[in-house]
Amino acid sequence: MSKHFSFRELRNDEAIPYELLFAADPSRKMVEEYLSASDLYIAEDENEVVGVVVLFEISKTQAEIKNISVEENLQGQGIGKLLLSNICEIAKKKSYKSICIGTANSSIMQLYLYQKKGFEVSNIRKNYFTDNYPEPIYENGIQAKHMIMLEMAL
Ligand code: ACO
Repeated sequence: MSKHFSFRELRNDEAIPYELLFAADPSRKMVEEYLSASDLYIAEDENEVVGVVVLFEISKTQAEIKNISVEENLQGQGIGKLLLSNICEIAKKKSYKSICIGTANSSIMQLYLYQKKGFEVSNIRKNYFTDNYPEPIYENGIQAKHMIMLEMAL
């Protein structure tokens, strides 16, 4: 990656990049629920928001990446990896002992990326997508039914 993208926490007076958040999680209800109790960080190209990552506290020792999303026409340039590396560093500084992330059984590229960054499958929330989302979701010709949870020690 030759281009430099900066990373920082979104300030309270700035607009929340909802379009990016909904690209990773189509449920407005769930996004709004976890945002109210999370910290939101962005990747920027000059003054333009190009990616977002949301950190949620599960317990004093564990945090969860609830949402990670990169502008569609800028995907594949390393911004996702930058967001993951930076959020793991922040979680470590906040003294969490582990960090987890969940994605659908159909999200092949995401499963590849998270494992490549050091996350390991920890458990499966069976029928999470079929139980919680009104419309069936398909990716890569596979129905999103279950949530695969991955975890990494910090
Ligand atoms: N096809 C094939 N491989 C790809 C593609 C693609 N379209 N995009 C990225 N990759 C590969 C890269 O080559 C790289 O692999 P490498 O390290 O072997 O070179 C790896 O995936 C990571 O690439 P990045 O460029 O860092 O990832 P990107 O900036 O595209 O961000 C992300 C990844 C966040 C998943 C992005 O694609 C995205 O926003 N997708 C839509 C929203 C989404 O699905 N978010 C995650 C949902 S789960 C959750 O939010 C908890």
